[in-house]
Formats: sequence, C-alpha cells, structure tokens
Amino acid sequence: MDFAITIDPQASLPLHRQVYEELRQAILSGRLAPGQKLPSSRTLSQFLSISRATVTQSYEQLLSEGYLETILGSGTFVCRQLPDDLLNTAPIQPASQPVTSSVSLSTYGQNLNDKAFFRWPEAELEINFSYGRPAFDRFPIDLWRKLLARHCRSNPGVLDYTVYSMGYEPLRQAISSYLARSRAVQCHTEQIIIVGGSQQGLDLITRLFIDRGDGIAIEEPGYLGARRVFLAQGASLFPIPVDRSGLIVNSLKTSIIANLKLVYVTPSHQFPTGAVLSLPRRLELLTWAQKTGVMIIEDDYDSEYRYGERPIPALQGLDQGNSVIYLGTFSKVLFPALRLGYLVVPQNLAPIFARAKWLADRQCSLLAQYALTDFITEGHLERHIRRMRSLYDQRRQTLVQSLLFHFGDLVTIVGENAGMHLMVKIHTHLCDEEIIQRAVQAGVSIVPAYPNYLKASPRNEFILGYAELNESQITEGVSRMAQAIVGN
Ligand SMILES: Cc1ncc(COP(=O)(O)O)c(C=O)c1O
Repeated sequence: MDFAITIDPQASLPLHRQVYEELRQAILSGRLAPGQKLPSSRTLSQFLSISRATVTQSYEQLLSEGYLETILGSGTFVCRQLPDDLLNTAPIQPASQPVTSSVSLSTYGQNLNDKAFFRWPEAELEINFSYGRPAFDRFPIDLWRKLLARHCRSNPGVLDYTVYSMGYEPLRQAISSYLARSRAVQCHTEQIIIVGGSQQGLDLITRLFIDRGDGIAIEEPGYLGARRVFLAQGASLFPIPVDRSGLIVNSLKTSIIANLKLVYVTPSHQFPTGAVLSLPRRLELLTWAQKTGVMIIEDDYDSEYRYGERPIPALQGLDQGNSVIYLGTFSKVLFPALRLGYLVVPQNLAPIFARAKWLADRQCSLLAQYALTDFITEGHLERHIRRMRSLYDQRRQTLVQSLLFHFGDLVTIVGENAGMHLMVKIHTHLCDEEIIQRAVQAGVSIVPAYPNYLKASPRNEFILGYAELNESQITEGVSRMAQAIVGN
C-alpha cells in the first residue's frame, strides 16, 4: 500500500499526534479528497510500523473533529461535507482545470495550462466512429502472450537497464529491412531509434530542433497531436494549405517564414483529409528542403493500409540530401498501448537522438521490444497487416456505401482510399455541435475535423474511423446518423 505520510519516531511530538497532523494537512490541502477511503487502522499501522492503537487514536480524533466519517461495514472515509471554510487551500485541480496563476510554471508548463486540452473525451456510446483505433479483437493476442512469456522465461535481461537507448539492435535491424521492403525507405540499422510511439518521436525532434520562436510549417488541416507538441515547445506555426494532392508545396515555397526549421507532413495519407502527396510535389518539396536546409518530418503513421492503388514510396526513400526524418508507429498496425514507434534519422544525427532518448526515459520496454522482434522476424507482422488490410477494406467499402445510401448528395466523402478513417462533409444548415449532439442522442459518436485546423475551419467536416467497427455496426451507425442529422 502506498500512503504518502511521514512520521518521525525521534520527534518530541507523540506519534498519534504526528499521524493526526499529517492526515489533517492532507485533507486540508485536498491531497485526500472528500469521500476518499482511508486504509484500515491495521493496514496503516503495518505500513508505518507503529502500533494499531496509535493509528486508532489519530483516526478517532479526526472523526470527532468531523474530518473523517465511518460507514458501517465499508470503512473510514474523508468526510464528504467538510465545511468550506475548513479548506484553507483549493483541492488539487482535476486534469481539465487550468492551475491558478499563483503557481510558477515554466513556459512549457504554461503552454499546457489549457483546459480544452482533452477536448473530445469519447463518450461511451453504442457505436463509436472515433478514428485511429485498430480492430483490437483481431489482434493475435494469444501469440503475443506466448512471445512475451518466451522472453520472460528465458531472458533475465528484460528486467534491466540497457546501455542502448536507441533500442534493441535486432529490432532495429528487423525494422530497417521491413521499411526497405515495404516502404522503399533507405536506411541502415544505425539510423533507427526506437521511441515510445510517434508522439515521443515528435517530442524528441522538437526538443532537438526548436528554440522558442522558431518556425515550423504544418499542413492545414493537420494532426493535432503534432501541433500540440510543437506549440508546447514554443514553436511558431505556419499552416500551409493542402488540396487533393496533399501539401501545396508552392505555397510553402512562396511563404516568408522567419526562422523556419521544420516542415511536418503526412505524405502517404494526409491527416485528416486522406490526400496522397503527389510524386511531383514530393520531388519539389525535397529540392526545396535541400536548398533551404529545412528538415522535413515525414509522419508515415498508417501507410500500410492502401486500397486498390499501389503505395507511393516514402519521401525518405527519394531524398538525396539527408533532409528527412521519417517517423513510424506500431499503434495502427498492432495496438496503441504498445507505445512503440521508430525514427529513421540522418546518420550524423543518430547519436544526438540517442542521447535525447536516454535523457527522456532511458529506453523503451525491453520485454515489448523482444516480443516485437520475434513478431516481425517470424513473419507475423506482415501476415497481420495483410489480414487487416482486407478487413479494413471491406469495412471502408461498407461505410462509403452506407453514407451514399443514407445521405445521398448531402454528403461529400474524401480520403477514402487509404488508412483507417475517411473524412466527410455533411451538407446541412446545422452547426457542428448540433450535429454531434444529435448523433450522440442516437447512440453514435463522431469526431469533428475543426480542431485540426489552425485557422478558420470549414463547417460540418467530420472524421469517421471504421477499422474497429464491424459491418453491421457501420451500417446501423450511418443509418442512425442520417436519421438524426438530415432526417433520411
Ligand atoms: C497523423 C498521426 N500520426 C501519428 C499517430 C500515432 O501516434 P502514436 O504512435 O503516438 O500512437 C496518429 C494517431 O492517430 C496520427 O493520426
């Protein structure tokens, strides 16, 4: 049991009084919240290595003063109705509230002091079109369990630190040959750094390239997860519009951007519009980057899923001038809680990234890295991707057909040829909030696209994820949405 109170057996204050004071302070500061259960006197006495009678004496004092209450058969709790004037400090802020101005945060901390940070907590509704989640029920969990057990049994090293913050060497080898094979990425194992998902990759890149006020060009609309990392580090963001061929590179080239250091793109499947950056634009972007010295971040988060069209090779594979940092993740092809992704960086930058990773968190979980190495080298990864590609393709087609059937020309669909989501524009006079509310009342959760725009966003655009839903959920969900929103 963890219960953060401190007592000093050498102090002159009797022990029961010390326990009483510690608990009272914890209640007054909000560290122990009203209604929170306290450990039993026996458990707390064992934890503090003091007699049970001492703890009982402290509890009784707090009970008599109204700080605690007992509920018969349930235990001892912090009193739910503490008089307001008893609380001399505000209770600890819940995650969604900004902290008060008296707290002196760093610039980074202040940039996170935003109560809209978790803007769209997903309501637990019957049918959830939220994007980015793979089909969890199709993941070969028994196989994964076996691989974990194999390494738990035979590999005591899984418990230890490693000196290799860049990641487990055989995993880096496996990833480099997988990327060469499937994405035409040109790299050696030494260029690969295993990170805690794309999000940590973005965080490390930003730390290493961005000082406060430096510029980063981003896609408009673009991935909110990246934008937030950039803003938190104090970058100035410059949104560059996208069209059906991806980032409008000419608009980037003709913009005057002070201290531009990075360009963030999702060329294989632009987030969220689904556009694919055309080959001429890829070449134009690379030539411009070489000339200006600006580094490109290529976020290749779900390129494994392309339907009916040949995949376009990664931008990194076309690069002749060390202008690209390639970022990949296992969140979509396996599962997001794995928190494993990878960076492919120009060789001369690899040691600096390794040090940054070491400072950030030493290393990713070794057990997960060992299991993943086997998963890749034994062929399970590519088999799983093939299966999921055909499953998601069916689900995608079902979604497109249902949308056209139920909404007719009241919907425009974009970006449906790749990935695990598509984007729709619903042609109605209702505002986004009203559309979301009507869907919620019908038991359907949908996510608006507007938070992904930095500037003024178009109305009535939504991102619909389909990978996690079966076909009957998709048809039922679209039918309910259409009825609730456009009355069809
Ligand atoms: C554009 C983009 N990049 C990366 C990710 C994946 O992030 P992570 O690897 O941190 O789970 C997502 C998730 O939705 C995404 O939309």
